[in-house]
Amino acid sequence: MTSDHRLDLEQHQKEALEQIAAAPDARALEELRIRFTGRKAPLSDELSRLGTLPPEKRREAGQRANTVKRAINEALDKRVQELRVGGGALAGAEAIDLTFPGTPPRRGHLHPVSLVMRDMEDIFRGLGYDVARGPEVDTDYYSFEALNIPKGHPARDGFDTFFIADQETGEPDFTAETNLVLRPHTSPMQIRVMEQQPPPIKAVFPGKVFRRDSDATHVPMFHQLEGLAVDEGITVADLRGTLEYFARAMFGEERKIRLRPDHFPFTEPSLEVHVSCLVCDGKGCGLCRQSGWIEILGAGMVHPNVLRFGGIDPDRYRGFAFGMGIDRIAMLKYGIDDMRAMFENDVRFVRQF
Ligand code: PHE
Repeated sequence: MTSDHRLDLEQHQKEALEQIAAAPDARALEELRIRFTGRKAPLSDELSRLGTLPPEKRREAGQRANTVKRAINEALDKRVQELRVGGGALAGAEAIDLTFPGTPPRRGHLHPVSLVMRDMEDIFRGLGYDVARGPEVDTDYYSFEALNIPKGHPARDGFDTFFIADQETGEPDFTAETNLVLRPHTSPMQIRVMEQQPPPIKAVFPGKVFRRDSDATHVPMFHQLEGLAVDEGITVADLRGTLEYFARAMFGEERKIRLRPDHFPFTEPSLEVHVSCLVCDGKGCGLCRQSGWIEILGAGMVHPNVLRFGGIDPDRYRGFAFGMGIDRIAMLKYGIDDMRAMFENDVRFVRQF
């Protein structure tokens, strides 16, 4: 046997100690123990070959090999201790069982109002409508004046508006253009979008609205979805067809709608839209108060004055508009009977939908 086949003991010890010190866990360490001290280990081979050496070299070579073997065993023992201390009784590989089911993180859940708002947006997007959002704090001008509700108009009372007082005087500022209110409906967006783009316009505007009102069916902050379509030759039939399509997409193919006269200063004619009762399908029950119908929204043909305020020529263009309470529709869709439950922030409530 030539010296070429002899193990470089120094190099071997260096490698072994490095690998042992870096062993990440008990299992890796056990593999290293076998590799460096087992029956087939290079060092075992080396020791078993001592007998082939001439006697005068045997002693020295034996001592050197045994020194290396001791160093490796010490390193193994040391690393076992380190892994035990670091990982407790279940050191190394056993400490983390990757197959063990973990604690599931708590996931959030969309509020029923958000779910319904998204459904509505999707339905109207499918009809080619844009979706836009506008300011929740708006001026008297956009909230009333430009919607054909001048100062002193009795319809203003019905909106139970929150006015924002002037910082200095503490009084509301009564200049229509600068007086700020919490918008009591999403209709201001009709004017804002007409100002920004020429017809044809097809857009819906979801968002928060505010009124000074609070009982089982009213809360001071709720949500509306406003719709506006302006083009040449638009008629009530377009309005009816659009809302019928919406009611079926939202509440089921078998739904019917009916229109009843109503009054809003910003539409002429104005309509109240009812959908056949989701529970009794028109026969009469508690939900529809025995009428077979449920009111879901207000609508109408955009008043010529409103088109003019929006910078659109009423002799050439016509439009329809509608506005509905998203919270109310969520209550109908999910059978929720107290509006206040929607805003109590109880996660058990939210998780049901
Ligand atoms: N803005 C009205 C309301 O809040 C609803 C409505 C919108 C009616 C558009 C007609 C047209 O009650």
